[in-house]
Amino acid sequence: MKVQEAPNPLAEGLHDYRVADPAVMVIFGATGDLSGRKLLPALYNLAKQRSLPAGFAVVGAAMNELTDQAFRQLAGQKIHQYSRTQPIDDRVLAAFLDQLFYVKVDFSKLDDFRALAQRVRELDNTNHIPGNRIFYCATPPPTYQTIAVQLQAAGLNTGEGFHRVVVEKPFGYDLKSARDLTQTLQKVFAEDSVFRIDHYLGKETVQNILAFRFANSIFEPVWNTNLIDSVQITVAEDIGIENRGAYYDHAGAMRDIIQNHGLQLVTLTAMEPPLAFEANAVRDEKVKVLRAIRPLLGEDIEQSTVRGQYVRGWVLGEQVPGYREEKNVAPDSQTETFAALRLFIDNWRWAGVPFYIRAGKRLPKRVTEIRIQFKRPPHLTFGRDAMKEVDPNAITLRIQPEEGISLKFGAKVPSAGLRIRSVTMDFQYQTSFLVEAPEAYERLLLDCMIGDPTLFTRADEVEAAWQLIDPIEESWRNSRPPLETYPAGTWGPPSAAKLLQADGREWHRP
Ligand code: BG6
Repeated sequence: MKVQEAPNPLAEGLHDYRVADPAVMVIFGATGDLSGRKLLPALYNLAKQRSLPAGFAVVGAAMNELTDQAFRQLAGQKIHQYSRTQPIDDRVLAAFLDQLFYVKVDFSKLDDFRALAQRVRELDNTNHIPGNRIFYCATPPPTYQTIAVQLQAAGLNTGEGFHRVVVEKPFGYDLKSARDLTQTLQKVFAEDSVFRIDHYLGKETVQNILAFRFANSIFEPVWNTNLIDSVQITVAEDIGIENRGAYYDHAGAMRDIIQNHGLQLVTLTAMEPPLAFEANAVRDEKVKVLRAIRPLLGEDIEQSTVRGQYVRGWVLGEQVPGYREEKNVAPDSQTETFAALRLFIDNWRWAGVPFYIRAGKRLPKRVTEIRIQFKRPPHLTFGRDAMKEVDPNAITLRIQPEEGISLKFGAKVPSAGLRIRSVTMDFQYQTSFLVEAPEAYERLLLDCMIGDPTLFTRADEVEAAWQLIDPIEESWRNSRPPLETYPAGTWGPPSAAKLLQADGREWHRP
């Protein structure tokens, strides 16, 4: 007899029932990588879960000469290839593709933007859209300002309805260029209409840091310098730079990951409880953390930062080339593919607790995690011998993969006598909720259409982050500390381990 499985109450009603307002979304760079791999599949999935309103239309805008039909065909292929949900629902896809249009736009030509404006107005009429527009810059960052200026010149940023712009990290290259970018964007759009995407904030597990901390009462009382020894944040990737040498060689691990994703994880782990899960309340608290981080200056930079570059090695059983052998990378490149920092947050909650952050390409595995390492018990009730197999308590927030949370604690070994050993209590998203989390872009695109900027980066947040990073980058340009190498497939250069050893600690091996 077949046993009827009891329904899992945690898996019930897991659906985002929000519906966006009708709008025309213009995707600049619509034939590019980001659009094909992330944006179009995310929009299709939103259509599938009925979050897109009737009349919602997408206009692809790029340099290529394409008809609407050819763009639809391209979009269909990308959705088949990259959609999170499979198999593809042909009816939903056909209806979605019907609302895709294409206009060739050369960003330097105002006439092209005027033609775009004309097309958008026509869609307003045919689809009964009240002038709402979202401009998504899925293009290289140096084009953001040109696009904004041209949108203004073509009158696409005013009139009835809302006018929003979405830009992708990196927001600027340093503090000065970030300010420049902000100024240009703010001349064209109101700050609350500028949506700066750091896709880490769209990840369910990243948002869950706040739920874990502030929807429970038992963790916050221990979440401070009294009980926490240190915090380790790891953003490790096994992949190299793929085909992004031209971009990456000017960015490096610091600008690519630490300045944005890395510091986002620090702020969410360290912030005070906001009054509400509301855009400004949350972002105010995050900015306070960034401002409380003790700036690394002068000699501190040599002692508290590490930079490395991978050389040829083995990753997951495959031999891979060194960074300088990659396409579009200078043969004498000084760009770091690994970065590690020790930071302190000078406030009451965190005084004296080091935050260690590391990020790197071609590390042994893909894993992002935040590890909260607690202090040892103040007194060894069971004696040193019984406790010798026990590690201090730790909470690990696993952002990806195998998303979940684990708590490590000591338990008595079931045998005569008293021996204690470390065990782990585990929560895993997939086995608890029985669903796969939506893609970060699905959440963020919908938030943007609804007009909720909570999970987007505010201008002052971006600037506060660059204020911390600029002096480090400058010191690194002067080889302080020097660039080290590490074989691909290892956990970074020797100084990464030494950074923690100097404090009597070691990196957690994820
Ligand atoms: C991007 C970086 O922001 O994040 C990439 O530019 C990196 O270099 C990627 O690979 C990692 O994102 P995810 O979602 O795969 O962890």
